[in-house]
Amino acid sequence: MKVSIKRDSSFQEFEVPRHPSQTVLDVVTYIQRELDPTLAYRFACRVGMCGSCAMTVNGAPRWTCRTHVDKVARNDRIEISPLKNLPVIRDLVTDMSGFFDKWARARGQFEGRLSRNEDFSRVRPESPDRLQVDAAIECIGCAVCYSACEVVSWNPRYLGPAALNRAWTLVQDERDAGKIERLRAVAGDAGCHSCHTHMSCTERCPKALSPTASIAGLKREVAKALLKGEV
Ligand code: SF4
Ligand code: SF4
Ligand code: FES
Repeated sequence: MKVSIKRDSSFQEFEVPRHPSQTVLDVVTYIQRELDPTLAYRFACRVGMCGSCAMTVNGAPRWTCRTHVDKVARNDRIEISPLKNLPVIRDLVTDMSGFFDKWARARGQFEGRLSRNEDFSRVRPESPDRLQVDAAIECIGCAVCYSACEVVSWNPRYLGPAALNRAWTLVQDERDAGKIERLRAVAGDAGCHSCHTHMSCTERCPKALSPTASIAGLKREVAKALLKGEV
């Protein structure tokens, strides 16, 4: 099989033997161990838990450890490049710091309202708010959605689907004390109203989450808060 890997601005081609159940991460690992030890790439768990192996494979962002070569190879070829919309550190390794800075800008951290001397909060699993959180909570921060989002490409300030999805889980968390501040943080030009509902994030998310639905929920909450004069 011919494998083209993007390094700097050009592609380098390698010949890699095919195996049953071979993943794209297996291919990259083979190249680094057997053909070119200078190739830089990133992975940790190999089982779809950490999200660190995400790359662009034949034009689409994917977890390489969960992508079988048989599913993506065309005419016995695959093309691998780093995730889009993120600066490249080297070869297939991207700098995720801007991506996570946006989680902070979207106020993606829980703000408790109880002290350590008070009893635990109890959230009913069947409550409507908790069900909304459940639908969006399994994000592992892999940036596949962010890499797929065209609005991020046009507007690098846009917070993007993952940070906004995270903000939505906190806006729906009845224990959180930062709702209004968070809605202010996601309401600006770089926030939820920039989403054009293209759905690329939802189509590509390997966890089958729907950042598009979360962003629509944020738009509704921002509108309600605007009517009440809170944002
Ligand atoms: S929403 Fe999905 S694609 Fe986006 S960072 Fe989270 S797990 Fe990855
Ligand atoms: S639905 Fe919104 S956040 Fe998702 S890819 Fe489209 S523009 Fe980006
Ligand atoms: S290596 Fe952890 S998700 Fe692929």
